[in-house]
Amino acid sequence: MITPYSDGIFYAVKNHVNPFILETVSKIAPGRVIDLGCGAGNNLRHMIDLGWDVYAVDREKIAIDMLNEFLPSDHVFCCDLRCMDFSKLPNWNLILCNYVLQHFTRVEMTEFIERINMTSRANCMMILSVFENRSDFSVDEVFLELKNLNWQLKNSEKWSRMDTSHGDPHQHEGVDSFWIKSS
Ligand SMILES: C[S@@+](CC[C@H](N)C(=O)[O-])C[C@H]1O[C@@H](n2cnc3c(N)ncnc32)[C@H](O)[C@@H]1O
Repeated sequence: MITPYSDGIFYAVKNHVNPFILETVSKIAPGRVIDLGCGAGNNLRHMIDLGWDVYAVDREKIAIDMLNEFLPSDHVFCCDLRCMDFSKLPNWNLILCNYVLQHFTRVEMTEFIERINMTSRANCMMILSVFENRSDFSVDEVFLELKNLNWQLKNSEKWSRMDTSHGDPHQHEGVDSFWIKSS
């Protein structure tokens, strides 16, 4: 399947780590993290150094090849998040899901969040980043899904920037957010 990532250009930019993730992770004790739609794993390398047990999922073979360079093969999953059986993964403390939902329809987004919720234990944390204006649903609708499932929003930051990392320069707007599942 041809996707916006198949040519590997997006994954060639390896030095960008999401500052919201850096800041949030610096305040929590290491445990097990699973990055859903991890790309080349830019947000994961420093977490290994911090002592996190890192698992990663992406559907793009080029990204998976890059992850296999620094993660054990049984920590890396090449599959589609819309149909992945999350119960096959070990229990996690933290989910990363950053700038992935723009590839989902509203129905897929809702089902995905429900499946994450069903397989997450109480006090599980999530750092979720969502683009504005890139889907048939809004950031507020994503947040409402989580709140209805008893996830508490602990922190969020809106941002806007010109992206020159791939294709013609284009404006990106999004929200980074940190959540904890209530008991
Ligand atoms: C914009 S990139 C974000 C990568 C990484 N999370 C980050 O913040 O740098 C989106 C990633 O989501 C992955 N992705 C999109 N839809 C997916 C799906 N249905 N299943 C698995 N991965 C998917 C893409 O292959 C791509 O690597």
